[in-house]
Amino acid sequence: MAGGERGDFITGEEVLDRLDGLLDRAAEMKAGRPGVGAGVLTGRSVALVFEQPSTRTRVSLEVGVSELGGTPIVLPGDELQLTRGESIGDLGRVLSRYVDAIAFRSGSDDRLAELVAAAEVPVVNALTPRHHPCQTLADLLTLRERFGELDGLRVAFVGDGNNVARSLARLGGAAGLDVVVSSPPGFELEADAGAELVADPHEAVAGADAIYADVWLSMADEDAAAKRDALAPYRVDADLLAAASDRAIVLHCLPAHPGEEITADVLYGPRSLVFDQAENRLHAQKALLELLLG
Ligand code: CP
Repeated sequence: MAGGERGDFITGEEVLDRLDGLLDRAAEMKAGRPGVGAGVLTGRSVALVFEQPSTRTRVSLEVGVSELGGTPIVLPGDELQLTRGESIGDLGRVLSRYVDAIAFRSGSDDRLAELVAAAEVPVVNALTPRHHPCQTLADLLTLRERFGELDGLRVAFVGDGNNVARSLARLGGAAGLDVVVSSPPGFELEADAGAELVADPHEAVAGADAIYADVWLSMADEDAAAKRDALAPYRVDADLLAAASDRAIVLHCLPAHPGEEITADVLYGPRSLVFDQAENRLHAQKALLELLLG
């Protein structure tokens, strides 16, 4: 989530160790918005580098930095000298001379690693093909709000074993969740990701406290038709929701495609917390930025 070898800043592993406190603080910031945390980043700047589209991550980071008193600088990748061959390492070296942290969204985990290796300020992963840790922080906050505690909650992620599933398995597992991931053959999460893998979606959601849906096609996917066909039995609908616990909620990291990975009645229904989940991106990331820079 954050890294760099030369800085004395907090690392991703240390964030993981402080997850409980981070979620406590996010809840305080939400309850006391915008006063709680205001001024923590006064005089600080954060570069938000987006090499791929974003709505929630970009806006919540930009608003979050502002509410903490800092200056967010949004940098679409296609407006930088990266387009003329400047290396991502040099971008990290240069930005480190101007700003106090960098958030980076990229279609390449290798590019994130190169940036982390070169940067002398904390780097926050704002989504790569393999990881989406900021999303998981918001997911955990949402689950905690509903159920009070995370320990022992069963969360069934149904669909492509993607970056969202992987981060949920890793961070959610560290927070005490039992994460189950249900995917068709060829789209499974790796066995050592920290989740229980259950091919049958009805079996996976049995007793689940939350069902988590995500888009079938990620930004890098090319063979769309074959992937849609494979994932069709994994649509989250009323029938699947009925197979979960009576108290089960529905999560989706958005953007959604109603009628594809999730039906509209479930997405917009009474068990859905997806818009609370989207809002919680803001509060969780503010707590993260305070932890990294405050
Ligand atoms: N969930 C999420 O990361 O949304 P964006 O792609 O809009 O940032």
